[in-house]
Amino acid sequence: MTTRSDKAISIPRNPFHPTFGRSPAIIGGRDVELDSFELALAEGPGNPWRTALISGTRGIGKTVLLNEFEAAAKQLGWIVLRAHIGSEMISELTDVTIPRAFSAIDSAPTGNGRHLTGLSIAGIGGFKTEVSTSQPEPGRNLLSQLQDLSALLMPQGSGILLTLDEVQSAEPAQLNEIAHAIQDLNRDDAEIAFVAAGLPSGIEDLLQLEGATFLRRAERVSLGRLDLETTKDIIRRTAELGERAMTEDAVELAAELSHGYPYLIQTIGSVAWAKARLAHSDTITAQHVSDAAAESIRRIGLQVHAPSLRKVPPRQIDFLKAMARLSPNGKPVATSAIAETMGRKLSGISQLRHDLIYRELIVSASTGYVEFTLPYFADYLNTLVE
Ligand SMILES: Nc1ncnc2c1ncn2[C@@H]1O[C@H](COP(=O)(O)OP(=O)(O)O)[C@@H](O)[C@H]1O
Ligand SMILES: [Mg+2]
Repeated sequence: MTTRSDKAISIPRNPFHPTFGRSPAIIGGRDVELDSFELALAEGPGNPWRTALISGTRGIGKTVLLNEFEAAAKQLGWIVLRAHIGSEMISELTDVTIPRAFSAIDSAPTGNGRHLTGLSIAGIGGFKTEVSTSQPEPGRNLLSQLQDLSALLMPQGSGILLTLDEVQSAEPAQLNEIAHAIQDLNRDDAEIAFVAAGLPSGIEDLLQLEGATFLRRAERVSLGRLDLETTKDIIRRTAELGERAMTEDAVELAAELSHGYPYLIQTIGSVAWAKARLAHSDTITAQHVSDAAAESIRRIGLQVHAPSLRKVPPRQIDFLKAMARLSPNGKPVATSAIAETMGRKLSGISQLRHDLIYRELIVSASTGYVEFTLPYFADYLNTLVE
């Protein structure tokens, strides 16, 4: 019998995934981080990676790495609990997510002793209550529920991974409750891991707050761009999955244009793939990639540059605009030249420079020079009208 989906397989779909939060078909780099996390799960409570904080700019691959950590935990038979940002974060965990984990364990196939294959419990959607022996009493707090869950899992060599994305938006009081629970469980030598991910400056602000102290001791995982070889490998292998091979010239050009920035790797690949498709070409050529550049740069502007300017004060934006005018191609710029363009003294802009570095919008290149952190940021800034 031929089903609709059988037919659909004959039309190859775009193998690139230029969508935030969606794991790519081929993941490149991040082996060091993944190996360290797997080691922590296998090793035990003393390993510092049991509490990790992933930071990096939009589109650098934080959520994807979080997904990978979750998959690694499930592979080892751990239970994954996802916390979601919002005022209901804790009650969603205690009233929905954790009870759902108990239900899933209750209904997991039991043999000679229960064996878990790893479960992922997200707290969205209709929660079906099942009558079971291990269900916690309603109204219990986060710590006691996690203790019960942990007690159930420990004899099976399994543990709990709690994840939290967009942590920069968390309320300190909620983090405090999570911290309290995790610290207590750690003290009892429980198998628990906590991984959060968020934007760099947001995280720095958060760490200053009372209640987030435990995150200050977390393993810091700062994500950056991927190297050229890794980038080329991702592009080449992803294209092959779409049954539309990329010429080596095209791979080179796409890697160069993407600057190793994960969001751009997927976007340029995706747009070039679509250009080749429209041209009825079964290979993706350098011309298709080149034709994809403008659209990809426009998209990173909308999806990454624009939101990263949202809370930036006007004077800092003036600094960035002056910098973009001086360096439309994104090359390092002398701070003195920026001061001159702004009609200010060098000393008068040093605080702005400092604040922009703290926001991770610019980095210090060499003495007296700064450059943009995000690729094509100058292009975006130069499109903004005064
Ligand atoms: N290691 C990687 N290799 C290839 N593509 C990646 C990788 N990490 C992320 N991506 C892609 O980059 C884009 C942004 O990833 P995402 O995890 O959503 O970023 P963030 O959470 O940091 O904003 C997505 O399209 C994703 O598929
Ligand atoms: Mg994300």
